[in-house]
Amino acid sequence: MKIVFPVAGVGTRFLPATKEIPKEILPVIDKPLIQYAVEEAVQSGLSDFVFITARGKEALENYFTPNPDLDDFLKRHQKSHLLDGLREFYTKNFTYIRQKQALGFGHAIALAEKVVGGEPFAISLPDDLIISRQPAMAQLLEVYEKYKSPVIAFMEVPSADIPRYGIAAGKFIADRVFQIEKLVEKPAIADAPSNFAVIGRYIMTPDIFPLLQATAHGAGAEIQLTDAVIQLMKKRRVLGYFFEGRRFDAGTTLGYIETLIHVALRREDTRDFTRRILRDLAENEKL
Ligand code: UTP
Repeated sequence: MKIVFPVAGVGTRFLPATKEIPKEILPVIDKPLIQYAVEEAVQSGLSDFVFITARGKEALENYFTPNPDLDDFLKRHQKSHLLDGLREFYTKNFTYIRQKQALGFGHAIALAEKVVGGEPFAISLPDDLIISRQPAMAQLLEVYEKYKSPVIAFMEVPSADIPRYGIAAGKFIADRVFQIEKLVEKPAIADAPSNFAVIGRYIMTPDIFPLLQATAHGAGAEIQLTDAVIQLMKKRRVLGYFFEGRRFDAGTTLGYIETLIHVALRREDTRDFTRRILRDLAENEKL
């Protein structure tokens, strides 16, 4: 199965950092966001990656290819091991498609049709960083294999956050799995059917493509995947899945701070130091 990473967005919530640098290149400690998402995909058994990119995103296109000058330099300084974590990706299959205008997430996905063809495919949004025992995409793939229906990742969010998400309601058919009966993009709190929020991991079937083509510009004047999924729900069962794990919203400034701290607390080489400075800070706050 191919996996599509739509990374052509402007990243307005992270300006000015994202003026010249793609949001997905922002490091969480020493590794760019996109690498966390690609690693999760690899750990889920996927190796065929489709990036929907845009002008100014060249750093993303280059990141997963060798850099001979840097390799030479590192070799001469006996530091080649510093890129060990990256080399496994050099042999994977990356395809890049340019989105000429940022017409929305749904529009970006529509562009993947010529590469994905008539097969089911995965979608991952790299600014949703998920820490879990079993990779989040692997969990979704299991649900897809079992039910052969499109699957969307969900988590519960506090009411105040509802207007930032796609929100769904439906009936549970198994532990963590529900059939979506209602789906609304970024509703007002009063109009939300629940607090079940769409998270950036999906398995879609190719019958979404004609619906995306027919989708008009929705919330925020962008072509939204949600609008096409609502049409898809009239034709077939679409499932929601509450993944096991914790998701961090690294695409916002506050979420990014939270992501950094959690990743630092989980990494062996940064854990003790991070714990210490957090403890020191908490103690000083009391003074
Ligand atoms: P977001 O809604 O997060 O938009 O897009 P954004 O541009 O990345 O960030 P903000 O809201 O301006 O801060 C969801 C996903 O869809 C991609 C984005 O790159 C992100 O991964 N996207 C969005 C596109 O590929 N093309 C678009 O036209 C819009």
